[in-house]
Amino acid sequence: MANIVQFENVGLRYGVGEETLCDVSFTLRSGQFYFLTGASGAGKTSLLRLLYLSQRPSRGIIRLFGEDAVILPRGRLPGFRRRIGVVFQDFRLIPHLSAADNIALPLRVAGMAESEIARAVREMLNWIGLAERAGARPATLSGGEQQRVAIARAVIARPELLVADEPTGNVDPAMAERLLHLFQSLHRLGTTVVMATHDWHLIERVPGAHHLHLEHGRLVDPDPPMPPPAEARASTIVRSGL
Ligand SMILES: Nc1ncnc2c1ncn2[C@@H]1O[C@H](COP(=O)(O)OP(=O)(O)OP(=O)(O)O)[C@@H](O)[C@H]1O
Ligand SMILES: [Mg+2]
Repeated sequence: MANIVQFENVGLRYGVGEETLCDVSFTLRSGQFYFLTGASGAGKTSLLRLLYLSQRPSRGIIRLFGEDAVILPRGRLPGFRRRIGVVFQDFRLIPHLSAADNIALPLRVAGMAESEIARAVREMLNWIGLAERAGARPATLSGGEQQRVAIARAVIARPELLVADEPTGNVDPAMAERLLHLFQSLHRLGTTVVMATHDWHLIERVPGAHHLHLEHGRLVDPDPPMPPPAEARASTIVRSGL
C-alpha cells in the first residue's frame, strides 16, 4: 500500500512566538480512513491546511502523492489541489452561486459534460437531503445546510484524498450518521479520508479507521485508544519518532 502523505518533523509557526505544530511526524497510507482529534486550538485545522497545501510548514518535510510538497512550484499547486477534496471548517461556499452550482464546481473544472454534471449533482443533493434547495444561494441556507453543500462539493469528483475539517460539526446526530456513510462510500471507492472531529463516537463507527490525536500541537497516542479491530491494529499508522 503506497504512502499518500508523509510528514517528518514538521513545525508550523504563525508569525513569532511558540510553534503551533511541533515535530509532527506521521504517514498516511493510500485508501485508509483517518480521524484527527484534539481539543479546540490543538492545531487540527493547521495540520489540515498543510495537507491541502494552503500553508507551508516552517520546518520539516512534507511529501504528498510521492512528491516534496514544500518546494512544489506554485504553478503545480492547482494540479495537486484537484486531487484533494476539502471540507473547510468555515465551508467557503461561493456566495453568488446556487447550492447546485457550488456542488458542480469540481466537475466543471474537470470538464465533465453538463448532462452528466446535472445527474451527479441531483443525486448528491438527494443524498444530502437538499433536493428542494438546489437553487438556493449559500446565505439563505442554515449552517448545517451549508455544511452539507460543502461536503457534497468536496466528494462529488471522487478525489484521491479527502480532507474534512469537522464536517459534522453543524448537523444533528442523524445527519452526522448519514454524512459518515457518504464518507465511507467514498472511502470504499478508494479515497483516502482524513477527518478532524470532536465526536469520538464517530470514530467507533468506522471499523478499521486510524486515529491521530493532537495535544498542544504535538501528535500523541489517543487516550482512550481506539477500540481494537485486530486488522486495523496490524496496519496501524506508521508514526516515526513515537
Ligand atoms: N492564521 C493564523 N494566524 C495566527 N494564529 C493562528 C492562525 N490559525 C490558527 N492559529 C492559532 O493556532 C492554534 C491552533 O489553531 P487551529 O485552528 O489549528 O486549532 P484547531 O485544533 O483546529 O481548533 P478548533 O477545534 O477550535 O477548530 C490556535 O492557538 C490558533 O489561535
Ligand atoms: Mg479547527
